[in-house]
Amino acid sequence: MSSNQPMLKQLMRVKNPDHIVDEADHGGLKRSMGLFALLMFSVGSIIGTGIFVILGEAIPKAGPAVIISFVLAAVVCAFSALSYAELAGTIPVSGSSYSYAYATLGEIIAWVCGWCLMLEYGVSVSAVAVGWGQYLNEFLSAFGIQLPAAIANPPGEAGGVFNLPAVFVVVACMFLLLRGASESATTNNIMVMIKLGILIFFCVVAFTAFDGGNFEPFLPLGVAGIGAAAGQVFFSYIGFDAASTAGEEAKNPKRDLPLAIVGSLIVVTIFYLLVTIAVIGANGGQPSDYEGQSSEAVLAKVANDVTGSTWAGTIIALGAVVSIFSVVLVTMYGQTRILFAMGRDGLLPKTFTKVNPRTQTPVNNTIIVAVVISVLAALVPLGQLAEATSIGTLFAFMIVNAGVISLRRSRPDMDRSFKTPFYPVTPILGVIGCLYLILSLDVVTWIVFAVWLTLGMIIYFAYGFRRSRLATGEPQSWEQDPEPPVVR
Ligand code: ALA
Repeated sequence: MSSNQPMLKQLMRVKNPDHIVDEADHGGLKRSMGLFALLMFSVGSIIGTGIFVILGEAIPKAGPAVIISFVLAAVVCAFSALSYAELAGTIPVSGSSYSYAYATLGEIIAWVCGWCLMLEYGVSVSAVAVGWGQYLNEFLSAFGIQLPAAIANPPGEAGGVFNLPAVFVVVACMFLLLRGASESATTNNIMVMIKLGILIFFCVVAFTAFDGGNFEPFLPLGVAGIGAAAGQVFFSYIGFDAASTAGEEAKNPKRDLPLAIVGSLIVVTIFYLLVTIAVIGANGGQPSDYEGQSSEAVLAKVANDVTGSTWAGTIIALGAVVSIFSVVLVTMYGQTRILFAMGRDGLLPKTFTKVNPRTQTPVNNTIIVAVVISVLAALVPLGQLAEATSIGTLFAFMIVNAGVISLRRSRPDMDRSFKTPFYPVTPILGVIGCLYLILSLDVVTWIVFAVWLTLGMIIYFAYGFRRSRLATGEPQSWEQDPEPPVVR
C-alpha cells in the first residue's frame, strides 16, 4: 500500500480531479442555489465589518488616496478571483481552495490550505461575531435598551465577562444553517438587499453634502500611505471566494460559480468606491479630520452630521447589524463545507461528513463549528488572531493562483467552463500581489501565523497523514452503495 512509498511522495499525493468531481455528485448535499443566490451569497460574505469599521481607520492612513488603496486591494483580489473562477468552474466542489490544492499541488499543501481557510472562515467569524455584538449594543441603545455590561461586551473590555450577543448571532446562524442551504440562502438574499439598500441610502445622504475640496491634497501621506491602507482594506474584500464553498449545492456550478465569484467582486468594488468617495466628500479626507473620532461609527456619524439628527445614524447601525449577520451566516456555512470536504478525504474525522437525510445539511459538522466559534467569540480576546485572518486568506489565495498554473500543466484536457485571461500572467501577478500584501502586515501577525501552521502540521502528522483516503485506499461509501452517506 502507499505507506511503503517514500515520505515525500506520500506528502505530495494528488487526488484525481475527475474523482473529486464524481464525489461531489454523491456527497448528499442538495443542489438548490441558482446564480442569483450564489451572487448574493458572495456579496453577503464580503460586505460587513470592513466597510462599516475599517474605512474609518484606513482614511487617516492614506488620506483621500485611500480610494487608490481600495482599487489596489481590489486588483490583487481580482487576479485571485479569476483563478478561483477557473478552478471553481473546473472542479466545482465544496472544499474551495482546499480541494483545488488537493487536485493540483498535493496533500500536504491541501492540508496547509485547509488549515489557512480555518483562519479565513472559522476564526474570522468569531471576530466578526464580536463586532456584531458591539453594533447590536449600539443599535439597542438608540431605543434606551442596555444589556448588563458583564454579558454585553468582550471579556476584559468595558466590564465584559461573557459576550452574549456574539454567541447569540453564532447560534442563530447555526439554526438557520441546520434548516437547509436554500432557507439560509433566502435569509441571506433578504439581508444582502437590506445592506445594499442601506449603503445606497448612505451615499444619497452623504452626496448632498459633497465638497470636492475635501480631496485636496490627495496624497497627504505619500505613496507609503496607499500601501499601508491597502493592506488594511484588503480585509473588506475577504469573502468573494465564498461561493466556491457552495460547489456541491449550486444548480449549475460550472456556469454560475465563476460568474458569482467575479461578479460579486465587481459589485462590491463599485459599492466600496462610492461609499469611500461619499465619506470623504462629506466628512473630509485628511488625517486631522478623523482625530478623536471613533472609527466604528464613521458612517453613522457622517449620516447624523449631514441630516442634523440621529435617525439616519440609527438606520446605519441597523445596516451594520444586518450586514455583519449575513457575513457570519455565509462564512460559517463556508467553514462547515470545507470541513466536510476534508472529512470526506479522511484528513479529519468522518463525523464532519454525515448529512441529515431530511434537510440534506451536515448536522454534526455545523454544531461542532458553531460550538467552537461561540466559545472563541464569547471568551477569547481575538485581536491578534483576527489579524491572522488576512494572512491566512492571502496564503490560501497564493495556493489557488499556483493551482491554476499546476492544473493547466498537469491536465490541459480538463473541461474548463471559465479560463483566466492572459494566462499565465494573471495567476503570477496574483501570487506577487498576495506576497506584497502579506509583507505589508505586522511581524507579530507573521509569528502568530507560524505558530498556527506548526500546530496544523502536528495535527496532520498525528491524524490525517495515515488516515487519508489516498493512504488507506478506502473506497467512498457511494462506491459500495449507491445511496449517499446519511445519518438518521
Ligand atoms: N469582508 C468581510 C467584512 O468586511 C470579512 O466583514
